[in-house]
Amino acid sequence: MKRRRFLREMGAGAAVLGLGGWGPEVAGSEDLPPSRARHFDADVDLELISGPGRHAILPDRPSGTWGYRGRLLKGREGTLAPGDSYLGPTIRVRRGDRIRIRYRNELPEPSIVHWHGLTVPELSDGHPRLAIPGGTERVYEFEVVQRAGQYWYHPHPHRRTGVQVYRGLAGLLVVEDDEEAALALPAGEYEIPLVLQDRAFDEAGELQYASGRMAQMRGFLGNRIAVNGAVDRTLSLGTATYRLRILNGSNARIYKLAWSDGSPMRVIGSDGGLLARPRTTAYVMLAPAERADLLLDLHGRSVGDRLELRSLSFSGAGGDMMGMGGGMGMGGPGGLAQGAEFTVLRIRVDRRDSYSYSMPARLSEPRFESAEEAVNRDSPRVLPLSFRRMQWLLNGATFGMEDVRENEVVRSGELEIWEFTNTHGGMMRMAHPMHLHGGLFQVLERRPPGGSLHGWAGIREGLLDEAWKDTVLVWPGQRVRVLVRFSSHKGLFLYHCHTLEHEDLGMMRNFRIV
Ligand code: C2O
Ligand code: CU
Ligand code: CU
Repeated sequence: MKRRRFLREMGAGAAVLGLGGWGPEVAGSEDLPPSRARHFDADVDLELISGPGRHAILPDRPSGTWGYRGRLLKGREGTLAPGDSYLGPTIRVRRGDRIRIRYRNELPEPSIVHWHGLTVPELSDGHPRLAIPGGTERVYEFEVVQRAGQYWYHPHPHRRTGVQVYRGLAGLLVVEDDEEAALALPAGEYEIPLVLQDRAFDEAGELQYASGRMAQMRGFLGNRIAVNGAVDRTLSLGTATYRLRILNGSNARIYKLAWSDGSPMRVIGSDGGLLARPRTTAYVMLAPAERADLLLDLHGRSVGDRLELRSLSFSGAGGDMMGMGGGMGMGGPGGLAQGAEFTVLRIRVDRRDSYSYSMPARLSEPRFESAEEAVNRDSPRVLPLSFRRMQWLLNGATFGMEDVRENEVVRSGELEIWEFTNTHGGMMRMAHPMHLHGGLFQVLERRPPGGSLHGWAGIREGLLDEAWKDTVLVWPGQRVRVLVRFSSHKGLFLYHCHTLEHEDLGMMRNFRIV
């Protein structure tokens, strides 16, 4: 215990090497449960380094960034693909793979990496108490037990997650499995990851992050939309079928995605992989950290055609102090407010291409759980989202590094219903994308179900509630119930609002799996 405490106070978790090379045995001997300490036979072994860099986010000049870079030490070809611009490498693994990641922090401040959407042991989950100082290393080891899907990784140090992600620390982690492979979905040049992030720049072209209490309370909103690390992106595509795998990697911006010509969106997946069946919808809502997997069929188009991915206007996500429009709901520089309409991405059809993919009627067997079997089906755990004294709260409290309330203890392997209530009567009402570590969940119900909430009618059709999720948008005035089976890994895990400024402000809590 003393030793743990010492290591924690070093701010470094247990896997600090200081000098010397990558020693997996360091993590093995001190950091991992004894059963796994001696021997972890990794299928995939890689190093990941966070450090400063410069990238052309604007077309005409580079900006200072922070980012991840990686190197594959062991694993299949294609495990690590360089990310565009400042984005970290895309890590591509298979369900069942055993992964070792040797993380080295070369930033001038502490950081820690979290594998968003993955179920991993406590000490590999990237909890803020395990942040390591610049110049040190930490080894992660875990087995990939997820369904196929597009997950991602990003930093998670307390109070610095927003700014670190903003400067560029984020990357995709794609999980493949046999069920998905059997569908032979568009791959290679026909599979296009799109990471959406809004940014703001000063006159010198450097990234500008709005700090200060008001900006934190509202969440950062930029006025330029970066797609895969560059603003004003145009994709040149052929007359083929494409799979667009979209991540909202923004700090606070919510997107209402639609095609500019009104053609429907064909959705095949979300956070936790493929839907049971494809869905056609006019638009898709994507809150911070959420993913949408789309098929885009350009067969009917001619060379020279143009198409835009737009974010349509919507209202009701809040951030307006006492409903005084404008005010806090306005964007930062340039005033691109939450819910404003803008272009995300331009597409130009520049060649003929006959590759086509016909959508199967059935995509996956989601193996959903039944709410009837939840241990607390008669008395769901109610977790209020609220605002008090200029502070966002979760479960009535702010974040404490190891603080766990009585109603934040769950049993490993148990199925539970959690209800997030965004019904406080305070003056500050906002939509919050709520995220849970340690397991995917199903959205069971939203109340009130009708259209009485402000702005609700304009967004409801675009929610992908039928998917496996790890993040769910909770609208102002709403109660959202989710069904989650907690992992068999015991220990301290997080749940929080994924508006990163809210998270940094303390709208995050621990729960303990016992
Ligand atoms: Cu993507 Cu705890 O977060
Ligand atoms: Cu997460
Ligand atoms: Cu929030």
